[in-house]
Order: sequence, then C-alpha cells, then structure tokens
Amino acid sequence: MCNGYENSYLSEESRNLEMARQSLIEEFQAINWYQERIELTGDEELKKILSHNRDEEKEHAAMLMEYIMKKDAVQDEKFKHHD
Ligand SMILES: [Fe+2]
Repeated sequence: MCNGYENSYLSEESRNLEMARQSLIEEFQAINWYQERIELTGDEELKKILSHNRDEEKEHAAMLMEYIMKKDAVQDEKFKHHD
C-alpha cells in the first residue's frame, strides 16, 4: 500500500503526528458533510441516522485530538493556554 507516508523523510514521530492531524481534518470534514445532509433531508428517519453518525465522527475527532495532545507537548500547552 502506498499512502505517501512509508518513504517519508520525516521521523516516525512526525509521520504519526502528521497522520493523526490529517485524520482529524477528515473527521471534521465528515462532521460538516453529515451536518449538511441532516439539514438537507426532510426524511426524519434518515436525519436520525445521519445525526448519530455525525456524533460518532465527533467522538473520533476527540480521540485523535487526545492522541495529538498526548504526543505534542506544545500543542497540548496551546490548548490549555493561549491568547
Ligand atoms: Fe470517523
């Protein structure tokens, strides 16, 4: 499998953080897509499923954020204290 990460010049730590950050972007994008569809559909059954799925993506995003904060001390600090 070639996903662009195997032969990276980055350290393993940087590659892992890059993959986590990219995954976080994708989770937020998924949340936006679900939200858009929730607001577009008039089908209450579909709206309920999409809302559930959107909230699962929020959980995924939280898990990735937790990982990033654990592995990146500066990011962790910036979440706790910023201007
Ligand atoms: Fe997800």
